[in-house]
Amino acid sequence: MSALFDLSGRTALITGSVRGIGYALAEGLAAEGATVIVNSRQQAAVDEAVAKLQAKGYQARGLALDVSDEAAVIAAFEQLDQDGVEVDILINNAGIQFRKPMVELELKDWQRVIDTNLTSAFIVGKEAAKRMIARGRGGKIINIGSLTSEAARPTIAPYTAAKGGIKMLSRAMAAEWAQFNIQANSIGPGYILTDMNEALVNNPEFDAWVKSSNPAKRWGRPEELIGTAVYLASSASNYVNGQIVYVDGGWLSVL
Ligand SMILES: NC(=O)c1ccc[n+]([C@@H]2O[C@H](COP(=O)([O-])OP(=O)(O)OC[C@H]3O[C@@H](n4cnc5c(N)ncnc54)[C@H](OP(=O)(O)O)[C@@H]3O)[C@@H](O)[C@H]2O)c1
Repeated sequence: MSALFDLSGRTALITGSVRGIGYALAEGLAAEGATVIVNSRQQAAVDEAVAKLQAKGYQARGLALDVSDEAAVIAAFEQLDQDGVEVDILINNAGIQFRKPMVELELKDWQRVIDTNLTSAFIVGKEAAKRMIARGRGGKIINIGSLTSEAARPTIAPYTAAKGGIKMLSRAMAAEWAQFNIQANSIGPGYILTDMNEALVNNPEFDAWVKSSNPAKRWGRPEELIGTAVYLASSASNYVNGQIVYVDGGWLSVL
């Protein structure tokens, strides 16, 4: 059984991984044997996350860059090439939230959310996949979607559009790259306890809504996404492609 999920000898780049879901996934993949590359826009936060992982005995290195900056991403992959680092697994996780009624939303804020949450997955995915195809060993791409890949909420239009796009970008990747033994799937987390949701957790009304609407009657925890990520990053999922797996306590399954 364990050989199916073993990630020894693989290198995984997890974007936006100095805290929250990304950090949990980096630690989860490292625990299965992967060397992990952690990323954020802040060098100090990256250094701290790398040190934390290394202190636990895991193989980790850092990559501080803005994933929506195409030139920076291309330069970083060229540097990885020079260093002999081959990304076998990519998790496009970096994301931001911005809440405003759509009639008040400015184009620059729409664009910023789309660039960070959707376009970045294209930019980083393209650089990773080019190399996976050239190496001929296949690869794994996991794009982090959301419940909003499927259903909308008011005041988060660009986030919703981006996460819907993530689901279909994964399918576009599968359509083009399955022939190269690359599997591209999405994970759609439910409401998870991270910094991104701090304001919602601290809002008694919203907190009560989550706990009453979700059939699990609670928020999710970042580490509860690890199992699905390890499965989609491992050879256990070699014939699974273009899918989205919701890890949401059953929320999307009920009325
Ligand atoms: N929490 C939830 O309930 C939930 C539910 C569904 C989906 N998601 C998705 O899961 C992912 C992670 O969310 P989270 O809740 O863990 O958020 P978080 O705690 O706010 O962490 C976001 C991470 O992304 C990084 N980041 C943001 N913009 C970036 C950029 N342009 N370039 C590189 N890194 C960037 C942040 O680091 P820096 O700020 O230091 O750059 C941080 O490491 C997101 O895609 C989010 O949409 C979250």
